Amino acid sequence: MCGIIGIIGAAPAVPKLVEGLKRLEYRGYDSAGIATLVTGRIERRRAEGKIVNLQAALDADPLRGITGIGHTRWATHGRPSEANAHPHANSMVAVVHNGIIENFQELKRALAAEGHAFESDTDTEVIVHLVTRYLNRGMAPSQAAARAIAELEGAFALAMIFAGHPELVIGARRGSPLAVGYGDGEMFLGSDALALAPLTQRICYLEDGDVVELTRDGATIRDKFGAVAARPIRETAAIGDAIGKGNFAHYMLKEIYEQPTVIGDTLASFINPATRAVALPDLPFDFADLPRLQMLACGTSWHAALIARYWFESLAHLPVDVDIGSEFRYRAPQLAKGGAALAISQSGETADTLAALRLARELDQATMAIVNVAESTMAREADGTLLTHAGPEVGVASTKAFTTQLTVLACLAIAAARARGTVDGEREAALSAAITEVPARAAEVLDHDSRLKGLAQEVANARHVLFLGRGTGYPVALEGALKLKEITYVPAEGFAAGEMKHGPIALIDEDIPIIVVAPYDALFDKTASNMQEVIARGGRVIFLSDAKGIERLGDLAAATVELPAVDPFVAPILYTIPVQLLAYHAAVIRGTDVDQPRNLAKSVTVE
Ligand code: AGP
Repeated sequence: MCGIIGIIGAAPAVPKLVEGLKRLEYRGYDSAGIATLVTGRIERRRAEGKIVNLQAALDADPLRGITGIGHTRWATHGRPSEANAHPHANSMVAVVHNGIIENFQELKRALAAEGHAFESDTDTEVIVHLVTRYLNRGMAPSQAAARAIAELEGAFALAMIFAGHPELVIGARRGSPLAVGYGDGEMFLGSDALALAPLTQRICYLEDGDVVELTRDGATIRDKFGAVAARPIRETAAIGDAIGKGNFAHYMLKEIYEQPTVIGDTLASFINPATRAVALPDLPFDFADLPRLQMLACGTSWHAALIARYWFESLAHLPVDVDIGSEFRYRAPQLAKGGAALAISQSGETADTLAALRLARELDQATMAIVNVAESTMAREADGTLLTHAGPEVGVASTKAFTTQLTVLACLAIAAARARGTVDGEREAALSAAITEVPARAAEVLDHDSRLKGLAQEVANARHVLFLGRGTGYPVALEGALKLKEITYVPAEGFAAGEMKHGPIALIDEDIPIIVVAPYDALFDKTASNMQEVIARGGRVIFLSDAKGIERLGDLAAATVELPAVDPFVAPILYTIPVQLLAYHAAVIRGTDVDQPRNLAKSVTVE
């Protein structure tokens, strides 16, 4: 997703703008650019591809100026190219934008008819000419900006600078996040706290409809009604130091290896160390009389919700619905009176999930969010928030965020069962013990890394890969398929093992690797039958199970990976790690961009 940085500095702006853009790389992008005011004139440097290309352009033709804006672009309208890279500008105004201007075609036609010449295929460029229209009518920059913004439809975060006005940067937010950073004699704009962390720890988040005017001395924020608004300034928890890869080749591998630690950190927030019992903060609803829970998420976070549904229903007898955000909004959901909605999101900014959460609130549901970013929009808008303590997740493919989401959800399920009286003290203690053991068991699973690296060759060049599982193993199969396809680009599908005979088994031949997720649990025998069905048709199975399962069926499989025997309750957390490693090593074999796979963004803030 696009990233925005803006500065009214006390020193040359370019080094800080480039540093801010580097902190935004994790969001995924395909071009980058910077504009500054040089003796009052707008000057730009832009480049297709990675920031190193922009840096080369800056080295070849340096940019001065202490006021500027920068952008990393994730193409929505117009292919990745220098001409389509932001900032878009003319001699009067330069603009960077994150989001989609839904009425840009209509605006473009009107502006072109007035004689405005366009040089890009982007929706963003209409903002430049719209502001220019009003500047040419004699409006001051802030008035021209406000007038232009009022004509835009869609979701956006914007930053703009004006020729001849080195003391002014204007920002606006509608749907895509934007934060104001407070420095000493300098002020900043950024898409998130991570981008601003090297510059300041004091930030405030704009609300939808806000327009902010930055001067060197501070910020004036006006809300969607044009009234001056006060937004709380908070000390961000974002890390000021650059987040490095340590001794790891990629952020994704580092984050896979961080899982034992961050699962432990997350548990520390929800397990009483003395009693080893789940201890949650106050929730915006009471599980004891909650009629129904609606979970909302996208992608990997949706897989976490699918697993949690098994837990909530089997342990707490709580009726649960799970929807992906982009579908929930448009299916006219009939929600339970007095029900609750739980959004799950690593970034806390995913547009589809956020919009679904807002709809649930409009439908009188109590709202909660499980997020990894404390200052995110979902955390600020939900009635209650539980944090995963995964730390910044830089790799676009979500790994530690997923297993810490499951950790929080497991604790919630235990608390729900206790509140609804559906488990006795002994079973609750066993569940709490099982979840408490996960960090240690996860470290054991990581010991299989080299084995999985060896097996990765099996999938790296396959024409298609299947993942099978039952019960909570089914969403793990979905997650394994998503991990593989999003970083290796190899077609992969996850199926409920019992579903194979209803069509997908037609795909099976000796060239199709099948990864079977099957701890020795109550469903093992059923999965075993499905596994034998695919083997009988020439399928080559990579079998993920524990000692008992491998003793029973291991000799039928082409390869096995033995995981520790654990309570089935926590198996999905542990069985995720091998499929993460398999995908990672297959991507390294294929030479893809593991941390920033093609076409993907870390935080999808457009619908
Ligand atoms: C997962 O590996 C992907 N990067 C993607 O599916 C992601 O989980 C999804 O976009 C949701 O993001 P969120 O958790 O930040 O809401």
